[in-house]
Amino acid sequence: MSKEERNITWQQSNLSRHERELHNGHRSRTLWFTGLSGAGKSSLAFALEQHLHDRGVRCYVLDGDNVRHGLNRDLGFTAEDRQENLRRIGEVAKLMVDAGLLVLSAFISPHAQDREMVRQLFEPEDFIEIYVQCSIEECERRDPKGLYKKARSGNIPHFTGISAPYDVPEDPSLIIDTEQLPLDEAVQKIVQYLELTGALQ
Ligand code: PPS
Repeated sequence: MSKEERNITWQQSNLSRHERELHNGHRSRTLWFTGLSGAGKSSLAFALEQHLHDRGVRCYVLDGDNVRHGLNRDLGFTAEDRQENLRRIGEVAKLMVDAGLLVLSAFISPHAQDREMVRQLFEPEDFIEIYVQCSIEECERRDPKGLYKKARSGNIPHFTGISAPYDVPEDPSLIIDTEQLPLDEAVQKIVQYLELTGALQ
């Protein structure tokens, strides 16, 4: 149904995104962390959030597990539910970017077409895809929540990397290999990217 058919009209705020960015002293962006369960997305996003917060950057982590506690508690892990999960998150992140924030989104987001759907919600420079790379063997060895063990014994259906696919990003803005790079160096690498692309001024 079109917007006209649904009788809805976009209401314009008195404040522009640009004014909010000037007020905050930095640009707003969405950093989209994608990778297998256990690859280190949440650890990286939260460490980066702490670093940026300490520098006065207004930022917030949208994390898969957390969002599924509330907003997306009605969704599971079928391909359709993951798509809806990411569509909603994309829309939330878009509002947060309009609010002048630097959003750190940490979701497995396993399907390339779903990541593309989210990317399309943003202006090209506002969406930064970061592939948190880690082999399935290492993720399974880490198994921080015991989920791989459960999945191997058949107790979690559609488990990414075991019984559901993960499409490796073809052209991410950044790759962070968590088997090679210590956490503090990974944070520095992303901060450097943000500085180079003018996001922190
Ligand atoms: S997705 O694919 O982007 O919609 O997933 P996401 O919202 O990021 O949620 C992933 C977290 O949910 C837990 N979990 C599962 N992950 C993958 N597959 C299945 N079937 C599954 N069931 C539960 C798991 O804790 C994921 O968190 P991370 O931080 O990635 O380990």
